[in-house]
Amino acid sequence: MPGGNILEVRNVVSGYVPTLPILNGVSLDVKVGEIVTLLGPNGAGKSTLIKAIAGILKVWSGTAHFLGRDLTKFETHDLVREGLGYVPQTENVFAKLSVEENLEIGCLVNRKEYPRQRERIFELFPDLARQRSLAAGKLSGGQRQMLAVGRALMANPKLLMLDEPSAGLSPKLAQVVFSQLLKVRDAGVTILMVEQNARAALQISDRGYILAEGREHLQGDAASLLDNPEVGELFLGAKSRLAKTGLGAKSHLAKTGPGKS
Ligand SMILES: Nc1ncnc2c1ncn2[C@@H]1O[C@H](COP(=O)(O)OP(=O)(O)OP(=O)(O)O)[C@@H](O)[C@H]1O
Ligand SMILES: [Mg+2]
Repeated sequence: MPGGNILEVRNVVSGYVPTLPILNGVSLDVKVGEIVTLLGPNGAGKSTLIKAIAGILKVWSGTAHFLGRDLTKFETHDLVREGLGYVPQTENVFAKLSVEENLEIGCLVNRKEYPRQRERIFELFPDLARQRSLAAGKLSGGQRQMLAVGRALMANPKLLMLDEPSAGLSPKLAQVVFSQLLKVRDAGVTILMVEQNARAALQISDRGYILAEGREHLQGDAASLLDNPEVGELFLGAKSRLAKTGLGAKSHLAKTGPGKS
């Protein structure tokens, strides 16, 4: 793991339709113990990048290494066993199953560990312990997101990737989710997340990347991105000069509803 990178993505090209690449040679690193946020306009390829890393989409060219091992050589379910967790934006819990049953499914790669892992998650998220018998579909939005994270944590990931964990939540609940992600990181899990809630996400992050048209457009430590005027124009609510930037036309500021996964 040169430089302590848990994830190393280099010049990755990928997409959904063979002749139409969505990722156009994107590169990104995540170091052990970091929280890294991926920002970018709608359609920039953020979810596509996470899906390519998670093995849901094939990497057409370029390289992706997880803990020094070639990610493209693994099947998706093997990646979970290797320590790569992925929480999609939507449909990330089984609504009809109870909280406890959802957690149990998250532990299928290592059934023996279930009781111990479940207690670990209940300690981390006491709300889930209190609601353990409730159907996941009856949880509040914030609790459901917590359950989705908890379910991914059941497999004991080293790297957890989350696609818009605060989507659809009130600012207050989003803050709760972010503070819980800090707890998750402090428990030893490295985090890569896609977010629209740029300021709140960068506030808990070590570094960030801004993706545009399938490539990294800007990158830096979270504090410098929060101070960067271009980032401010695009994501932090400074709308006045938005129209003058090429990215602005597709910016999240123009978005009205929660994002696609
Ligand atoms: N299943 C799919 N089949 C074909 N094209 C897709 C599919 N999913 C996404 N795309 C296209 O890939 C491009 C990138 O989409 P992606 O979902 O990665 O964007 P994103 O950066 O996550 O945007 P958002 O902020 O809206 O979630 C878009 O042009 C989108 O239309
Ligand atoms: Mg997306």
